[in-house]
Amino acid sequence: MDPSLSVLALGGLLTLALAQTFQFQEDAFLRFLGLDKTPSPLKLQRVPYILKKIVQDREAAAANEVTQDLCYLRELGVPGNLIRLLADHGFYFYSNKISQDNVCLQKALFFNLSAVHEKEQLTMAQLGLDLGPNSYFHLGPALELSLSMVQEPYRWGRSTPKPGRSLALQSVPWPQGTLRFNLLDVAQHWKNNPGKNLGLLLEILVKDDRDSGVHVPLEDTCARLRRSLHASLLVVTLDPQQCHLPPRQRRAAIPVPSPSCRNLCHRHQLFIHFRDLGWHKWIIAPKGFMANYCHGDCPFSLTTSLNSSSYAFMQALMHTVDPQVPQAVCIPTKLSPISMLYQDNDDNVILRHYEDMVVDECGCG
Ligand SMILES: *[C@@H]1O[C@H](CO)[C@@H](O)[C@H](O)[C@H]1NC(C)=O
Ligand SMILES: *[C@@H]1O[C@H](CO)[C@@H](O)[C@H](O)[C@H]1NC(C)=O
Repeated sequence: MDPSLSVLALGGLLTLALAQTFQFQEDAFLRFLGLDKTPSPLKLQRVPYILKKIVQDREAAAANEVTQDLCYLRELGVPGNLIRLLADHGFYFYSNKISQDNVCLQKALFFNLSAVHEKEQLTMAQLGLDLGPNSYFHLGPALELSLSMVQEPYRWGRSTPKPGRSLALQSVPWPQGTLRFNLLDVAQHWKNNPGKNLGLLLEILVKDDRDSGVHVPLEDTCARLRRSLHASLLVVTLDPQQCHLPPRQRRAAIPVPSPSCRNLCHRHQLFIHFRDLGWHKWIIAPKGFMANYCHGDCPFSLTTSLNSSSYAFMQALMHTVDPQVPQAVCIPTKLSPISMLYQDNDDNVILRHYEDMVVDECGCG
């Protein structure tokens, strides 16, 4: 057969095989990611710059074949192999207390840590409060931010929770940009005692009526804050089971074999575009990856030279004696991980690496 025709035929077969097993494979892959169904976020969450940077750094390192320690986050300065940006599931308390108690805004913050597995070690938990875009002028009153734990259960809609242990009290002269708070011990407590996670109480109070000359109504400042406030909890964990291996190094690409041995077992290039699978709706980065695959013959005469195991060698030897014993097959002998940034069904943004996603080398086994 004309070589280009055989390539076409192989491509057709692969597509057919992929389509038939896609549903099954997709379910298996989602379980592997710890998801029960395909995420279908209505809107993608804002991804902080730091997460994009980590993904970009890793992609660049992989492309340049630089050894990476995927269990240490250089950008954050902590050990970890799994980053979650947990969405806030809290709500606002609306009250008419503004004129009385100097309360500008009251909000419950709630982060569901149930996805964090018991065996994962927490290495970082940082609350980010985005107060809205920067502006060069600010004419409103000086504000004060108070963050405390909620220690007693409350019925929402009925009452405002009583603030418990105070976590932060700081003045916010210019309510804009992102404020960050270290909540490692709080998150640790919630992880160990999920029943005690009653959330946090965020209050923004009017500190004083600054003598600014121009008076902007307080309601405007508070309404603007309510519209733009966005809270999230950045949680970094380390899974010791995935982090005991020394980092692996990718080897140089396998040269395309000469035409005479094109049918022999070797690595074929395969780029997976997540868009082709419809996964671009929930995988934020990368857009796809070079997965590759192994294909080709494993004749006995060549089993020794195709990175085979002794077992494959024995199998190939037996095949020549007893054809009922199948021939050795072309399989990956070296794999490497990729990092993926995606959004789950609870609007959390997750960055983690997955082992064995890229075929680096093939052999007969
Ligand atoms: C936390 O998330 C889990 C899994 O999505 C869910 O079953 C559980 O009800 C949530 N807990 C709370 C308090 O919302
Ligand atoms: C076998 O491994 C070597 C490196 O160990 C690699 O250069 C070679 O391309 C591999 N052979 C195949 C068929 O993948």
